[in-house]
Amino acid sequence: MRIPTGIEGFDDLVQGGLLSERVYVLSGPPGSGKTTFGVQFLAHGASRGEVGLYTTLLECPQNIINDMSNYAMNITSLIKMQKLLFADLGPRMEYGYMDEMSEFVTTDYNVGRTSIESEAPSPSMVFKEIAAYVSEYDVKRLVIDSVSAIRFTTNDFSLQEKEMSRFIRNLKKLGCTTVLLSEMTDPTAYSTEQFAAHGVIFMHNFLYDKTMTRAIQVIKMRGTRHDCNMRSVSFSERGLRVEGYLE
Ligand SMILES: Nc1ncnc2c1ncn2[C@@H]1O[C@H](COP(=O)(O)OP(=O)(O)OP(=O)(O)O)[C@@H](O)[C@H]1O
Ligand SMILES: [Mg+2]
Repeated sequence: MRIPTGIEGFDDLVQGGLLSERVYVLSGPPGSGKTTFGVQFLAHGASRGEVGLYTTLLECPQNIINDMSNYAMNITSLIKMQKLLFADLGPRMEYGYMDEMSEFVTTDYNVGRTSIESEAPSPSMVFKEIAAYVSEYDVKRLVIDSVSAIRFTTNDFSLQEKEMSRFIRNLKKLGCTTVLLSEMTDPTAYSTEQFAAHGVIFMHNFLYDKTMTRAIQVIKMRGTRHDCNMRSVSFSERGLRVEGYLE
């Protein structure tokens, strides 16, 4: 079954929408529109009665809610109706308390150790928290912001790849249509999550002829005949809008 994304002009590129219950990666540089895409996708589902969950690892949810309230996505009432949920899975410890205490507390016996609460969570911790939300609220659409902020329990790159593949394999079994946001500065360096996902979409934001140009491009979409070219993107009062081919 295909589900409409709610991103104006996008579904025409992918035979009418995303295949449901699959995992997609949306990669792009800072400010390219990843969060906007994610929230718009969830708000559209929520307005059709499908519960959406936006999980943050880097940014506090309130900031995202404030920023996205600029758009006519109706997010405040969708949140009140519990059709749109925001969950903060980032490091818990706030600056402040321990900073003030630091001159009174000896850290000698603490060298090389940090509180688990202050670290970014591992893939399995993130997965467990998400799975609990999904079953409690019957979540249908899921966004993870961002996969790049997940901490690995090892420095070994091949083990990190295995952990990431395992994370994505588990997400595929959750029964949600999932969009993983990932930061990307080099569009030619593909990552494990991009290989493991059912689909990969790039958001571009680059300098061309002295102006910043925004575009979207479907890199892969299993089981779908799709447009591979860069389409220009703009922001309307309702969020992102996909337009014609980039000239
Ligand atoms: N009405 C608007 N409200 C907020 N942002 C807007 C608006 N119109 C255009 N923008 C653009 O949207 C950009 C932010 O988009 P978004 O937060 O979705 O990007 P992102 O890829 O998630 O960024 P990051 O990597 O920092 O998380 C802003 O930098 C701004 O250029
Ligand atoms: Mg963002």
